[in-house]
Amino acid sequence: MKNILSASFMIEMIRTATNMYNRGWDERNGGNLSMLLEEQEVRETLNPEKPVRTIPTGFTAPELEGKYFLVTGTGKYFKNVQYAPEVNLGIVRLKDRGRQADLLWGYEDGGQFTSEFPAHMMSHAARLQVNAENRVIMHCHPANLLAMTFVHDLDEKAFTRTLWQMCTECIVVFPEGVNVLPWMLCGTNEIGEATAEKMRTARLVVWSHHGIYGAGKDLDETFGLIETAEKAAEIYMKIAHLPRINTITDAQLHLLEKRFGIRAREGYLD
Ligand code: 13P
Ligand code: ZN
Repeated sequence: MKNILSASFMIEMIRTATNMYNRGWDERNGGNLSMLLEEQEVRETLNPEKPVRTIPTGFTAPELEGKYFLVTGTGKYFKNVQYAPEVNLGIVRLKDRGRQADLLWGYEDGGQFTSEFPAHMMSHAARLQVNAENRVIMHCHPANLLAMTFVHDLDEKAFTRTLWQMCTECIVVFPEGVNVLPWMLCGTNEIGEATAEKMRTARLVVWSHHGIYGAGKDLDETFGLIETAEKAAEIYMKIAHLPRINTITDAQLHLLEKRFGIRAREGYLD
């Protein structure tokens, strides 16, 4: 059997968690990451018929029964993932209509998956309905997006339009815009359900005064989405207190739609 630490999904997960930490998006245990794995790639590295233990999830997600996920552990520091992946990460397979998860590898100190497991699993289910290729859900605490939720209108159209106006290529990267949730208690099924609902119409969901969720077909795409939105928020935070004498106009955003063959969210441009 192949060494699990040399599997490409493991290498990419460790690299991504490390990059996220180095970006300052994941202080202490901040943030969490989950990736849907193919049964075949799991079987190349471990025997799924021999679970280490079973962990209750506290929710139901029948559409995810039998699916495998590589997930960061609760209370674990992204900083440490590269040094001890077997403690900070775990591979689980959902069973019993998603009510329980068999731990197949990892969380070797007796830990378990992130407290945001409901938001991750419910978001996977929601994104898979929109795009069968979706594999990754990423949550982190990037400073500028967070800062923006204290000083900008939280209306989704207004928030999206501001981000699009901050960098020319934002509208190309996330033409569907970003959805925004008000402050809610994290780690609950309620915020999980609300996030998943928002994931039906966008791959980026801002959690006001907390952070952001991103979804994508792989780790690179998802990282790039958050990176682009965070860059736009950074520019906004640099200029928000200054008189704005120039902007990217809606006519210019329409030109980008044509040039890149994308469609901006219906009703978001004049
Ligand atoms: P976990 O350590 O449980 O993953 O929580 C971190 C976090 O960012 C909660 O929103
Ligand atoms: Zn968080």
